[in-house]
Amino acid sequence: VERTLSIIKPDGVEKNKIGNILARFESAGLRIAALKMAHLSRAEAEGFYYVHKARPFFGELTEFMSRGPVVISVLEGADAVAKNRELMGATDPAKAAPGTIRKDLATSVGENTVHGSDSAENAAWEIAYFFAGSELT
Ligand code: GTP
Ligand code: MG
Repeated sequence: VERTLSIIKPDGVEKNKIGNILARFESAGLRIAALKMAHLSRAEAEGFYYVHKARPFFGELTEFMSRGPVVISVLEGADAVAKNRELMGATDPAKAAPGTIRKDLATSVGENTVHGSDSAENAAWEIAYFFAGSELT
C-alpha cells in the first residue's frame, strides 16, 4: 500500500465541503489513516510550500493557506498518490475533468480547494511535516 498527504484548503472548509471531499476519498477506496483540522500560521504554510518559494505566487499561496482552518489527512491504498491526484483534477479548475473535486468545487487556480502530494517520496516528507508517528494508524 501507498500513502499520500491531502489538505482540504481554506476555501473548501469555508464552503462547508469537508464531508463531501472525504466521502470522495472513501468511495474511491482510499482509507483515511490520519486526520486533523488546523489553522496554519504563515510560517507553517511557508515551510510546507518551501519548494515554491521562488515562484511569483508564493506570497499569495501562503497567505491563502493560512487564511483559515484546513483539514489535513493521510490517505492510504493502492496507488494512493495517483488516485488522489486523479480525484483532485488539474491545478486550474477550469481545466479539470468533469467529476473531479476541483471541477466540482474550486473557483480558481489560487483557490483550488485541495492539495495532494505529487510523488510517494514527497508524500513521506509532507506526512512527517504534519503528523507524529503515533498519529498515524
Ligand atoms: P498542490 O496539490 O496544492 O501542490 O497543487 P498542484 O500540485 O496541482 O500544483 P503546484 O504544486 O504546481 O502548485 C501548488 C499550488 O500553488 C497550487 O495548488 C495552487 O494553489 C498554487 N498556484 C499554482 N499556480 C498558481 C498561480 O498562478 N497563481 C496562484 N495564486 N496560485 C498558484
Ligand atoms: Mg503540488
